[in-house]
Amino acid sequence: MKLSIVGSGYVGLVTGTCFAEVGHEVICIDNNKEKVKQLQAGKIPIYEPGLEDLIKSNVAAGRLRFTDSIKEGVENSEVVFIAVPTPPQPDGSVDLTYIEQVAREIAAVLPAYRIIVDKSTVPVKTGEKVADTIARYSKSGAEFDVVSNPEFLREGCAVDDLMHPDRVVVGVASERPVATMKKIYEPFKAPIYITDINSAELIKHAANSFLALKISYINHVAAICEASGANVDEVADGMGADKRIGRAFLNAGLGYGGSCFPKDIKAFIHISQELGVPFTLLKEVEEINADQLDRFLKKIRSALWVLKDKTVGVLGLAFKGDTDDVRSSVAISLCQKLQAEGAKIRVYDPQGMEKAKGDLPGAIFCQSGEEVFEGAEAVVVATEWKQFRSLPWKELKSKMMTPFVFDGRNLLDSEAIRGFGYRYVGVGRPQKEIKQ
Ligand code: UGA
Repeated sequence: MKLSIVGSGYVGLVTGTCFAEVGHEVICIDNNKEKVKQLQAGKIPIYEPGLEDLIKSNVAAGRLRFTDSIKEGVENSEVVFIAVPTPPQPDGSVDLTYIEQVAREIAAVLPAYRIIVDKSTVPVKTGEKVADTIARYSKSGAEFDVVSNPEFLREGCAVDDLMHPDRVVVGVASERPVATMKKIYEPFKAPIYITDINSAELIKHAANSFLALKISYINHVAAICEASGANVDEVADGMGADKRIGRAFLNAGLGYGGSCFPKDIKAFIHISQELGVPFTLLKEVEEINADQLDRFLKKIRSALWVLKDKTVGVLGLAFKGDTDDVRSSVAISLCQKLQAEGAKIRVYDPQGMEKAKGDLPGAIFCQSGEEVFEGAEAVVVATEWKQFRSLPWKELKSKMMTPFVFDGRNLLDSEAIRGFGYRYVGVGRPQKEIKQ
């Protein structure tokens, strides 16, 4: 099928590429001319495992191309996806300026019947507004359908999530676009849920909020484990073995960050308030998340006492492993809070260094994980990059001033690390004396 996608950010670029990979003809559109030029030259603006190869092979096969012209995209495709940012406003509500702008631009060039699909995360009832806008600004008066098709991909495993989705949600206002939407998604062999538009929009906010709730739930259980001497890893395994609960998203740590959860939970709180049914449970989810970092910093303070002029090594800056995205990263907040107390920080991230530089003036950006240990009084694991596990921990201890390890993601084998003579502190894991 001939498809176009407006917005070549994480969602638009990965979705467009995966659509091309299963055989559709895709035009990815972005109003950032520089980005389009780079993409046309084979330069990929984000790090996402597997994406670069897929883009290159699909461009070479003639199924994927890039443009800055919405007109070109709309004229040459049956279905136009919208995947533009929906950033938060100071009061937690969602800024829908880009969605409105794109709806107006599509309306201005609509040549004949088209299906306009919203993929961006938007508040319930946005589809209705998009339909109104297109009808109002359409020059041709051509027929169209608006569809809601929320995206559930995770950064870091976006290609795999897209190629093998658990489900596809398609919200429609009439039968007309259903067959086309099914045809687009048929190659992905996933169950397709056809709903009304409002329900589809709600599914996205409700799903993300539930996942964040799971994280805050286990993080508070971790605090109870610390107070009682229990072990959160064992509690999570035991809880998660119940199929009704599931083990996924029960990893205790520094809390959730990124460009989705913090924004979407705030938005859902705002939406529920506007609708007169305030979702106060989600405020608690946010509070636990914020407390998680503060509780962790207390542990560092209580071990190192005065932080001023102490060198602290930080492993990880991205908001999670396998991505270069540092937006709303808890690792960055942790570094900033350490710096605010006068600590000197040495940082390293396998992919997120470039994007973090502006957020951390004064930090020493190291060339490797090993360098972070040089002269440090403590090393903090702030992001769950798997490769941090295989650093030569045994040898690295001798580079440190005092061998404290604060594992903010419960990434390391605590027994092994203690076995090398470190003082190890995790999240919700029992404290033990070092092995001599
Ligand atoms: C999240 C959702 O998982 C996706 O389904 C959704 O499509 C996406 O938001 C979106 O709305 O676009 P993402 O933010 O990319 O995806 O990453 P996650 O893997 O969900 O991680 C979010 C945060 O939670 C990270 O900071 C991660 O470190 C943290 N996390 C995750 C935990 O602290 N514990 C866990 O057990 C899992």
